[in-house]
This record gives sequence, C-alpha cells and structure tokens, in this order.
Amino acid sequence: MQLPNYKEASIRSKERVVKEQYKLPIEDRELGKNKTYFLKTYGCQMNEHDSENIQAMLEEMGFKESENYEHADLILLNTCSIRENAHNKAFGMLGRLKHLKQEKPDIIIGLCGCMAQEEGVIQEILTRYPQVNFVFGTHNLHRLPIVLKKYMDTNHQEIEVFSKEGNLIEGMPVKRMSPYKAYVNIIYGCDKFCTYCIVPYTRGKQRSRRKEDILQEIEELVKEGYQEVTLLGQNVNAYGKDLEENYGMEDLLEDVAKTNIPRIRFMTSHPWDFTDKMIEVIAKYPNIMKAIHLPVQSGSSRILRKMGRRYTKESYLELFDKIKKTVPNVSISTDIIVGFPGEEEEDFQETLDLVRHCKFDNAFTFIYSPRENTPASRLTDNTPLEVKEKRLQELNQLVNQYFLENNQKKVGNIEKVLVEGKNENGKTDLYGYTETNKLINFNGSSETIGKIVDVKVIDAKTWSLDGEICE
Ligand code: SAH
Ligand code: SF4
Ligand code: F3S
Repeated sequence: MQLPNYKEASIRSKERVVKEQYKLPIEDRELGKNKTYFLKTYGCQMNEHDSENIQAMLEEMGFKESENYEHADLILLNTCSIRENAHNKAFGMLGRLKHLKQEKPDIIIGLCGCMAQEEGVIQEILTRYPQVNFVFGTHNLHRLPIVLKKYMDTNHQEIEVFSKEGNLIEGMPVKRMSPYKAYVNIIYGCDKFCTYCIVPYTRGKQRSRRKEDILQEIEELVKEGYQEVTLLGQNVNAYGKDLEENYGMEDLLEDVAKTNIPRIRFMTSHPWDFTDKMIEVIAKYPNIMKAIHLPVQSGSSRILRKMGRRYTKESYLELFDKIKKTVPNVSISTDIIVGFPGEEEEDFQETLDLVRHCKFDNAFTFIYSPRENTPASRLTDNTPLEVKEKRLQELNQLVNQYFLENNQKKVGNIEKVLVEGKNENGKTDLYGYTETNKLINFNGSSETIGKIVDVKVIDAKTWSLDGEICE
C-alpha cells in the first residue's frame, strides 16, 4: 500500500525529469481474458486522454469494452477533484456500485485519476468504501497492470498512489476516441499554485515532453489521416520552461504548424505566459485554429491577487486586446469563478464589466468550491451561498447574451467545418466544429464525416449555429 501525501506533492525540485519507454509491466497478457471492462471518465481533457491510455492498457491484457457498467467484470472510475460536485458524482457512483457488488461479489472496482491523489479521499476509501478493490494515481497510470494484477492475485484492496511525479513515460498504448481528432499531451502538471486550485497537488510539477516525441506523435497522426490535434496541458504556455533547450510554446506551435496536420488547437493558456511571439505565430499559420481559451477567473485585481493569478484586470485586458488586434476573427473563451472568499459586490461588478468589454465567445462559469489543502480553503468566507448563486445566474445571463451576439455575426459566412458525426436526435443530419470551435448543425451526406467541408451559416443560437453545406 502506498498512500498520497500532500507535503511531498507540494515539493517542486529543480531535477530534470527523466524519460522512460513504456512496456507492459507484467508478463500476463491473459489477465483480462473473457472479461469486460467499463471505464467512466470525469473531469478535463487530460483525464479523457488518460482514459484513452487506460483503455488501451486494459485491452492489451485481453479485457474487452462493455457498453454499460451493470454487465462489466471490471469497473474503473477515472475521477476529478476540481470542484465538490465532481467528488459527489464519483462518490455517488461508488454508492451505486456497492449495491452491484453485493449482488455480484466477483466484479472488480477500481478508482484512479485526481481524486486518488487526495489524502482525504483515500482515507474515506480505506474506512468507508471496502468495495473499491484497487486504486492508482495520476503519477502511476502506467502501473495499472501491476496494481490490478496484485489485487486479482491476492483479493486484498490494493492502493498504490505516488505523491511525487516519477519519470516521464513515453510510448503508452492509446485507444483514441475519435479517428479524426486527437489529444496530444505536451506538458504535464502545474507549478502555478493558484490558491483555490488542487491541480498542482494532484498532477505534480510541470514536466514538458521532448519536442521530438511530440512531433513524431503528430507526424504519425497525420499519416493515419487525423484532421485535428489538441495540444494539452494545464498551462501549455509554460511548455519548455523545464527543458534544457531554449525552446518554448511559440517554437513548438510553429513546428507543429509546419507538419501537415490540418488543424491545431491547444489548451489551456494561462494569461501569464502568453508571449507576443506566440500571438504572431498563431496569426501567421492558417492551420493554427483561431480559438484561444484564456481563463480570467475574475475581473477584480484585488481578487486576482488573492487567487494568486499573477496578473491584474488591466494586464489581462491588455493581452486580450493585443490578441484580438493581431489575430483577425479570433474567438476567445474563458473560465470565471464567482464567490471566491472575500469577493464583494464591487468585485463582482468588475467581473461583469470585464465580460462586457471582452464579449467572450464562450465562458465556463463556476461557484468557488473550497478544495482540501489549498490556501484559499483556509480563508474566511462570509458570502452566503444564495448570493453566490445569484451572482452566477447574473453572470450567466450576460455571457449567454454575448455567445448569441457573436454567433449572429457569423450568419452568412462560409465556415470551414470538420464534420464529426451524425446528429442522432436532431433535426439536421450532421454536426461539426468551425475553426473558431463553434458547434454547427447541418444537412449533408455521412460521407463527409471526418472531412473538412465548407458550410454556410444560416442561423444562430446561443450555443450553436445552423448551416447549409456548400456543394
Ligand atoms: N489550468 C487551467 C484551469 C484548469 S481547471 C487554467 O489555469 O487556466 C478549469 C477551471 O476550473 C479553472 O479555470 C477554474 O475556473 C475552475 N476551478 C478550478 N478550481 C476551482 C475551485 N476550487 N472552485 C471553482 N472553480 C475552480
Ligand atoms: Fe490550477 Fe492555476 Fe494551475 Fe490552472 S494554472 S491548473 S487554475 S493552479
Ligand atoms: Fe479534474 Fe484533474 Fe482535470 S482535478 S479538471 S481531472 S486535472
């Protein structure tokens, strides 16, 4: 048994991370023979991509995917810690699984992802959730086969969570969700330690992949016919800062743009590390999509300081305006937290003012949720929940208004759309995403799925566009 420890998780050593090649760490390729698995993924794209690795590892051991958890032999939850409701969802599922396990004692239940890195969660599992048979964390994803086998050999709850990141593992098997769009990790972890955020403890220190490995992965995706890559990281703009070479995000973006991949996206960008050179590179290459996710969190410099975000309202707006000016037709989306401890009505009004200036193309809005072991969770918070809920509602009304206005401006345009699939219940046949990441529904032949086609925008809604394919 190896349990998580926050003290160790907070350490940021200067040591450079060592690269290691993955190989199935157990001899037994028959472990999953005649068995099925169900994997449930919560949280962000990082977790979704980890799940693509998990699925491939399980399938290497002979497990087959099951459509629903009731019929699976192995059920694994890849969890998220970011807010209380992510926790509640996973614990709710564990509650349901308790009953299933009573009916079918032979099923195997596992938990992994960010919640596995939390001291409190592991204590709860040890004391209240004996139905969880095995646990592994974000730093030892590649050891899933070992952890699972240990449980299967001994029938004893097996918990293996590393508090500190180990080597950077290359060459993990991957079962991609889409044959057209792929996630490519470029940097793991986060060193920003925003005071509200648990990610630096659950994902460890910032570690960049070597550029050769990233570029090779993308070249292979191009050969396989992929149309789009999303470069992933908690803060992609910090790419390269931990490597020896003087090679940063702007250089990587440029090199990726020079491959033949038709579409490049990246997320997430912390406003702090956004360089002028990066803006120029985004503007210069047509295959870099003009859609930038630039979380602001708050429009009040006083709150931003308490959040440890390292920028002010003014410097955010300066960067925002510079991007808008340099990259024509760019769409900018954001994340906003309301109800951070000590947020007063004036602070909230400043957030609304900032939204009125930026007119974001999309915004993910949240009520602040105190997270275990984070500095903000120790601050006094006198704002009642009803007030926070009212603020969220008011903010949502305002952001929605701009989504609609921005979409309306697209009516009449011809947009390049990557067709992603059939609309199962909708009025139109197909859906896809424009270069600026807007969902568009339209009629057309299913032969266009996986291709980039021209679609004329004929109508706008708050969260989507309607279009007509151009013959
Ligand atoms: N690395 C990204 C954010 C990842 S988390 C960045 O810094 O931009 C995604 C979003 O969740 C954050 O941008 C923030 O808005 C929200 N979030 C993170 N911790 C939160 C908390 N404790 N309560 C509420 N929202 C939170
Ligand atoms: Fe969390 Fe801040 Fe890191 Fe984003 S940059 S993952 S909000 S600590
Ligand atoms: Fe959640 Fe972990 Fe992602 S906390 S948002 S799954 S990095």
